[in-house]
Amino acid sequence: LSVQYVNYRDLLLPPIAHTKESLEFAENFSVEDTDVFAVTYPKSGTVWMQEILPLILNDGDLTQIQTIPNWDRTPWLEETRLAVVVDQLKSPRALVTHFPYHFMPASFHQSKAKAIYVMRNPKDVIVSSYYFHQMAGFLEDPGTFDEFLDKFLDGNLVFGKWTDHVKSWKHNNLGDRIMFITYEEMKEDLPAALRRISSFLGKNLSDETIHTIAEHCSFNAMKDNPMSNFSLVPKIYMDSDKSPFFRKGKYFTSSFTFV
Ligand code: PPS
Repeated sequence: LSVQYVNYRDLLLPPIAHTKESLEFAENFSVEDTDVFAVTYPKSGTVWMQEILPLILNDGDLTQIQTIPNWDRTPWLEETRLAVVVDQLKSPRALVTHFPYHFMPASFHQSKAKAIYVMRNPKDVIVSSYYFHQMAGFLEDPGTFDEFLDKFLDGNLVFGKWTDHVKSWKHNNLGDRIMFITYEEMKEDLPAALRRISSFLGKNLSDETIHTIAEHCSFNAMKDNPMSNFSLVPKIYMDSDKSPFFRKGKYFTSSFTFV
């Protein structure tokens, strides 16, 4: 089956969960000063941040990650669920987005909201994305790895070109409202990464709380969390028999840091 992507201001988006209404909602979204956005190019650590942020913001309280699916707990700015759950989100709110910088709503720029840009080694993004295109019913069949690699290099995929995405966020006007972290840094030493994120968010968490959060945000814990592993999603949209969402959770090269 061929998949018809949504074209939004020349950015390709998946045809489910991205509608005219959801994109208008995102454009007019009223960002609060206390909001936190985790920003990622797809397959760079989004779902990981959907687990991490609510835990940090709620001092390690597990209620949200155990009772609310990630798409409602830390909704995507651009997706349809945001309008549905927005009134249930408690401040400080945590959201995620795959948008390039210039797609952020005007209210984001006028606010004091913070952004955490998570970057992942593009070699691993390509591989993760290749398998995800096989399992996700809302993405085009990737073809051979070589064909997919060309699409990646041309930016002919949802949310555009990796380099454009990274560049757009690297050159920002956010000053100390933004921090950069890599998937590799989180993988290398999660407690240290959690401390850095907490401190950026003005949270001073005890070693015990950091330990609890790290435990619940491990690859294996998240893989087994039904609120995070997409087992609630019908197979026509995400077929884990073709490739699990929590596939490997590793990195290819030695650790590398941003800038
Ligand atoms: S998406 O579809 O854009 O929201 O995907 P995203 O969440 O950005 O990226 C999915 C990859 O992140 C891996 N992942 C993790 N790795 C290590 N630890 C934890 N806790 C974790 N959670 C998610 C996930 O396995 C995907 O990477 P690959 O390489 O495919 O395994």
